Amino acid sequence: MSEEATFPKGDLMAGKRGLIMGVANKNSIAWAIAQQLRAQGADLAFTYVNAAMERRVRPLAESVGAEIIVECDVTDDASMDAAFKAVADKWGALDFLVHSIAFTDKSALEGSFVENTTRQVFKDTMDVSAFSFVDAANRASKMMKPGGSMITLTYLGSERTIPNYNVMGVAKAALEASTRYIARDLGPRGIRVNAISAGPIKTLAAAGISSGRHMFSFNRSASPLRDDTDPKGVAGAALYLLSDLGASCTGETHHVDGGFHIVGMPDESALRGA
Ligand SMILES: NC(=O)c1ccc[n+]([C@@H]2O[C@H](COP(=O)([O-])OP(=O)(O)OC[C@H]3O[C@@H](n4cnc5c(N)ncnc54)[C@H](O)[C@@H]3O)[C@@H](O)[C@H]2O)c1
Repeated sequence: MSEEATFPKGDLMAGKRGLIMGVANKNSIAWAIAQQLRAQGADLAFTYVNAAMERRVRPLAESVGAEIIVECDVTDDASMDAAFKAVADKWGALDFLVHSIAFTDKSALEGSFVENTTRQVFKDTMDVSAFSFVDAANRASKMMKPGGSMITLTYLGSERTIPNYNVMGVAKAALEASTRYIARDLGPRGIRVNAISAGPIKTLAAAGISSGRHMFSFNRSASPLRDDTDPKGVAGAALYLLSDLGASCTGETHHVDGGFHIVGMPDESALRGA
């Protein structure tokens, strides 16, 4: 997505403060979401994973007037403690959370799932890509009043097998189940929790998947909309789920993938074109 992409302006998020976890660069899905929320008046805080990433994230965050920009490695309790303390110290309260984080070893994103998934890779993938949402949601909820809202990002590889997605698909299944359990726990407190299942988008994370090019071209030709997934569509869905427009919606996995997930058998022409 180009840096010049524009997002519909308004005041749907005016007076709301939220934490964005998962911007790595301008192609990150979390960055499209952040820009859309800012265009609707939100005040934003950002985390970045480490010092190397700070160089990329800080200028982006500053360009949307971020009030808090703090390091946070979700696998490190002390780092999570410090990041959430920074938010609590500055704001005291939080209206929304965007969790857009996943990681696995590149060696696990190719070939045979059953042969290539070691105990360590399985645990580490689950930790970063699924447990981190449970942990962040728990911490964020302590600062939320009724009306609070959280989202995470997932992918169809949780529901169906996708070549080379492997252990990440298993982690996404855990993430979606976690979303439902968190929604159930926080619902009585008026806090909504949802997942967006995005189609393939060219980001750093997507670059790690073997046969990514095939994934993009097949999605484009087989999906009802016959196009790539637009990060602006994902950002629009995030705005709906995080604003009061999404009232009464919780525990949902909302697909933003050109309709790819509804296709049982692609058209012959799509198979020839892919
Ligand atoms: N790009 C796609 O095609 C696609 C499709 C559906 C879902 N998703 C999901 O969207 C989310 C965002 O990915 P993206 O595609 O924008 O790629 P991205 O690489 O821009 O974002 C991934 C983020 O995870 C962060 N991260 C990794 N390990 C971390 C750790 N230990 N602590 C804190 N942060 C850590 C990275 O720093 C990065 O900011 C991921 O959950 C991904 O699985 C992506």
